[in-house]
Amino acid sequence: MSLGPRIRIVARLGAATLISTSLAVTLAVGTGFTQSSSGAAPGGDAADRGEVLFNTYGCWQCHGYSGQGGVGPKLAPRPLSFNNFQREVRSPREDMPIYRPNILSNDDLADIYAFVVSIPDSPAAQDIELLNP
Ligand code: HEC
Repeated sequence: MSLGPRIRIVARLGAATLISTSLAVTLAVGTGFTQSSSGAAPGGDAADRGEVLFNTYGCWQCHGYSGQGGVGPKLAPRPLSFNNFQREVRSPREDMPIYRPNILSNDDLADIYAFVVSIPDSPAAQDIELLNP
């Protein structure tokens, strides 16, 4: 890749990080939302909380609301193992902003993973009525 496009990508990622940071601050102030959800709740609760956190932390900006991908790769369905997922978030390979534990707690990251795991596969084309008149 030549230098030009790469610099533009990094600049765009920087702007997205700024947006997600200010979003998190706004939500924290506006709703009394606290980042430390201590103790993992079972099943659906974790996934529900994870969906809110996925939006709060701005993951959607690069990975899409359903983890379908965008600037960043698709995360769902069939995400990486939790270890690899966590490794990328804590020490990204390339352009993804780093989320350290003081910004995104381990509990919140586990909930985000529960949400990503819960995202179902898209239906097959032959099962979509509109595509089969
Ligand atoms: C500003 C854009 C951006 C944001 C915001 C972002 N990511 Fe990423 N993410 C990327 C890019 C780009 C990659 C590709 C690898 C790299 O650049 O490090 C990536 C890769 C990943 C991967 C590895 C996927 C794979 O198949 O290799 C995971 C997991 C991931 N991101 C999770 C998250 C989570 C969880 C959040 C929110 C806490 C998040 N990302 C926020 C841009 C972003």
